[in-house]
Amino acid sequence: MTEHDFIPKPYTITKQTGKVSWESPSNIALVKYWGKKKDQIPENPSISFTLNNCKTITTLSYTPKENNTDYSFEVFLDGDKKDDFKPKIETFFERIEAYLPFLRQFHFKIETHNTFPHSSGIASSASGMSALALCLMSVEKDLSTALDVTKEYFNTKASFLARLGSGSACRSIEGDLIVWGNTESIVGSTDLYGVKYPYAVHDNFKQYQDTILLVDKGEKQVSSTVGHNLMHGHPFAQNRFNQAHENMAKIKSILASGNLKAFIALMESEALTLHAMMMTSMPYFILMKPNTLEIINKIWAYRKKSGLHIGFTLDAGANVHVLYPKNESGEILEFIQHELVAYCKNGEYICDEIGFGANQLDF
Ligand code: DP6
Repeated sequence: MTEHDFIPKPYTITKQTGKVSWESPSNIALVKYWGKKKDQIPENPSISFTLNNCKTITTLSYTPKENNTDYSFEVFLDGDKKDDFKPKIETFFERIEAYLPFLRQFHFKIETHNTFPHSSGIASSASGMSALALCLMSVEKDLSTALDVTKEYFNTKASFLARLGSGSACRSIEGDLIVWGNTESIVGSTDLYGVKYPYAVHDNFKQYQDTILLVDKGEKQVSSTVGHNLMHGHPFAQNRFNQAHENMAKIKSILASGNLKAFIALMESEALTLHAMMMTSMPYFILMKPNTLEIINKIWAYRKKSGLHIGFTLDAGANVHVLYPKNESGEILEFIQHELVAYCKNGEYICDEIGFGANQLDF
């Protein structure tokens, strides 16, 4: 599908009041998205596991308004008005208006809640923007009862819209493995939205576990948008983008064969490459903390000693995602609790696992 396919036909119902609600999960990238072009087009392909427990629940109420001049909306997080969220949503509305022409016709009340602590340092943009995109899709569906909106079209357009809010959000609509960004080795992959990974996946990856160690819960030092932009003119950018394409091809055979050793090597190399890109940009950043490195070293030593398939990945921050197969979770969780949790801020960590995407909620 192209951008043009997401421009709707005229709606059958123009003005009405309504309320819709969605829960949408976070996701964890295995091959990382880092670097983007105009209109939220990624510089390289990425693939992620959709998570199950870390999610945003958003309720969107809409009422018709008199004039169609400005956007009109208010945002609440856990019942508190959040005016500082407004600029990001305003930008999102501007980017998606061509595809949702009703945005100026309503006043919106956006009520949102995260299942993970807001200050946890876990990015809520993927779950938050995907939940909002899905709510807006439900509004569109309410306004176009005569149109036959298939589930596939609904999810694809939701992913397309979510991308325009936050790139990684386009990988949160469905599960359990989602690809975003056009790459030769994955048929159907596109820069415009996330697609379900289309090939066979070995049972080793079913119910894969992700324990998120909260090392640093402060505000992000570098926003991801700033970070992505630092890839423009970065001396290693082109090699990195090429490497991401190569890793997409490699992960395909790893996912088919169930080779956990190769999986861990690819995933950890991706995480460290992401941080290497930040350390070698201008200006440069170190987002890992001493405890991030302590955890990584402990994981490596334990893996060597135990022979178990424990590995890590990182996002653009200090927290560590510890990934491991379900059938090794007893011993590994014990190791995490005894050896790693001490490095977390206030001993906090979140147990998550692979999930299957967003759900609409009833009232
Ligand atoms: C490091 O999706 O948060 O988590 O498109 O600017 O909103 P924007 O960026 P964002 O970037 C996430 C980058 C990452 C890697 C990944 O999830 O692929």
